[in-house]
Amino acid sequence: MSPARKCKMTPEEKDRERRLAWFRKARFGMFIHWGLYSQLGRHEWVMNRERIPVKEYEKLADTWQPGPWPARKWARLARQAGMRYMVMTTKHHEGFCLFHSELTDYCATKRGPKRDLVAEYVEAARAEGLRVGFYYSLMDWHHPDGARCYYDEKARRRFVDYIHGQIRELLTNYGKIDIMWYDVSWPLDAAGWESEKMNRMVLELQPDIIMNNRNQLPGDFGTPEQHIVPEDRMWEACMTFNESWGYTPIDTRWKDAWTVISMLRQVAAGGGNLLLNIGPAPDGSVPQPCVKVLREVGAWLEKYGESIYEATDPMQQEWQITGAFTRKGDTLYFHCNRWPGKELAIGGLECKILEARLMGGAEVEFEQIKDRLVLRGLPEKAPDPLDTVIELKFKGPARQVLGAGCVVLKPKK
Ligand code: GLC
Repeated sequence: MSPARKCKMTPEEKDRERRLAWFRKARFGMFIHWGLYSQLGRHEWVMNRERIPVKEYEKLADTWQPGPWPARKWARLARQAGMRYMVMTTKHHEGFCLFHSELTDYCATKRGPKRDLVAEYVEAARAEGLRVGFYYSLMDWHHPDGARCYYDEKARRRFVDYIHGQIRELLTNYGKIDIMWYDVSWPLDAAGWESEKMNRMVLELQPDIIMNNRNQLPGDFGTPEQHIVPEDRMWEACMTFNESWGYTPIDTRWKDAWTVISMLRQVAAGGGNLLLNIGPAPDGSVPQPCVKVLREVGAWLEKYGESIYEATDPMQQEWQITGAFTRKGDTLYFHCNRWPGKELAIGGLECKILEARLMGGAEVEFEQIKDRLVLRGLPEKAPDPLDTVIELKFKGPARQVLGAGCVVLKPKK
């Protein structure tokens, strides 16, 4: 943010910036969808999509037997993957609470698990030095007033008191919480949910917390889902590993490390974060493809992390098949994820280059003639087939302009 813009901020905006400071640098977080639906293994919307009657679905609350403290494994994996925060579903649309609630018996401490799964999660995340977020679904398919509240004022009153009451429990009983991640506000609007009051309460209970935009108010950050499109304020793209959020073993189209790294590169280039989801099995174990990929991504970040965590200056750039840029001041990081061989040419860079090197390695020979930069003497094979980062130092903040022709058109007089 420019110094000029900072001066003009209202006290409210200044406070938001203060609360957002760590999040702007975090870049990568782990989303965890875990609930009764994990036992069925057919997506977290299974109750709705298969029209399972409440009475039948409720039985899953007594059969759920999670293994011992799986959150410890998730948190360790998240840290090893280079993630800096976690967000877990404390209650999804199915209405079952993974925390202890005085307001319902439909919760983990009173049914099958007989333990507070949210407490375990909070402790595990903190032990690994990760920030802690709570996902909480406003929509509730289990609560008798969850739909009735739309037509019936008395039902709305009861239901909104229940929801606000549970948010109060969550933000009172577990120490410092870093993110309040609301989801699905069906069937009410901001007035119906009393969202202004909700956010005020959240901030009173947790003065350093940040809130997302899914309770019908803008909140502190945007939440593009299943796509990575930068917003003109802080944003976090949430993405699935396969195509489901909850444990769904029949959904086997897993993203690979190449794809996850390219998503990280995209969020960094747009100054946002990536919240990547895992859907643990009912016992809490993480599907093997996620474990494998997260470890690969972590190893890659060990080496190239600076080009993701710190290179978030905006830059004009154009597509090319060999890769894309992140930028930190006068340094460009070219993320080459389709290696062309001994020579790599990049068009349209409008600034004088001073130095090129393989990140963390040898210098690279280059020639810059007008708007064509050619790097020579590169290894024949990609040093890192997932994404080899080439660090390019320029004489100023470079940008890339190509257009569609072989010259860039000047505006007509
Ligand atoms: C959607 C889905 C939900 C998932 C969420 C994650 O809102 O309804 O199942 O939890 O996206 O962003």
